[in-house]
Amino acid sequence: MKILIASAMLLAASMSASAQSSGKIRVGLMLPATGTFASLGAAIENGFRLYVAENQGRLAGQEIEYVRVDDESDPAKATDNVNRLIKRDNVDVIVGTVHSGVTMAMAKAARETGTILIVPNAGADAVTGPMCAPNIFRSSFSNWQQGYAMGDVVAKKGHKKVMTITWKYAAGDEVVKSFKEAFEKGGGKVTEELSLPFPNVEFQALLTAIAAAKPDAVYTFFAGAGAVKFVKDYSAAGLKGRIPLYSTGFLTDGTLEAMGRDAEGIETTLHYADGLDSVRDKGFRLAYAKTFKSAPDVYAVQGYDAAQMLSVGLSAVGGDVKRKTELIAAMEKATIDSPRGRFTMSKNHNPVQDIYLRKVVGTENKLAGIASKALSDPGRGCRM
Ligand code: PHB
Repeated sequence: MKILIASAMLLAASMSASAQSSGKIRVGLMLPATGTFASLGAAIENGFRLYVAENQGRLAGQEIEYVRVDDESDPAKATDNVNRLIKRDNVDVIVGTVHSGVTMAMAKAARETGTILIVPNAGADAVTGPMCAPNIFRSSFSNWQQGYAMGDVVAKKGHKKVMTITWKYAAGDEVVKSFKEAFEKGGGKVTEELSLPFPNVEFQALLTAIAAAKPDAVYTFFAGAGAVKFVKDYSAAGLKGRIPLYSTGFLTDGTLEAMGRDAEGIETTLHYADGLDSVRDKGFRLAYAKTFKSAPDVYAVQGYDAAQMLSVGLSAVGGDVKRKTELIAAMEKATIDSPRGRFTMSKNHNPVQDIYLRKVVGTENKLAGIASKALSDPGRGCRM
């Protein structure tokens, strides 16, 4: 409800600005509005709209018009959904999505048609690896970046035997793979990799297996509603306080109110944190809270930065979205003044960014240090 009211306010702001319009940029927002990732999709859209609203409903003088699709985080529907945006709705730019499997289909369509795609979350390594293309950018992260940063942290903490547990799909597989890469390089051993199909939340048998095996620590990737259930079940199974739980920060971003005390003390790594204490972040958080009556999370930041990246590109071509080569060149060279801290683009179009170590204190992911400074995705398999 809050989101609807806030969106209506932003819509009104952009409509009043449209009186002076010189042209329109059609932005296709392909995000989850239902299912386990619904709140993530809402935060991304809020962030994107906030940046546009801060610029009177325009980017580079052009009015922004939205076409929205609920992708349901369902890879089976992804090709139809993205093709509808490109071929029927004639969008100029696509912003999406959260789920790695859905994003793979979007990247394929973007490669085939040359439509500009800005991925505001999904980390699928292939999107900026073998499937990379000049017109595909991410405002978020690669799954490799997420897992690698925490593998290093857990190895340095001296843990030797770690079990992993995640959803069986691209994001889960990849954050575990890169965690293992860094953790085993640091002298640890991943003893068992547990998984269940996305978006299932029947964790009991797997938690029983963890309790029986007694590893030094557990590393996990879950997000959204599934993350809330996992953290509560981990605690209810008596594992909290007995076997330390480490995760990508997605576990605890946007979910802490629902997790309550069961999340206290969990350490995670992510490219955003509470308590960054920069003027940029404070201003962003204030504006977001005022508009949407809730605190922003990493997804909101990624949506906001997707709009910033597009703005840089459009500004370089005087708002003419058809001058794609120059628009892309400007996005490649950009330094984005993100609430997370400034970032640049790697050769394969991922943010080169600091990955923070955070610790849950109450309802905050408190900054605890920098896990990896200016971490760049290696772009394995990308030829551009
Ligand atoms: C993904 O599928 O890549 C994904 C989904 C949710 C997250 C992070 C990554 O929070």
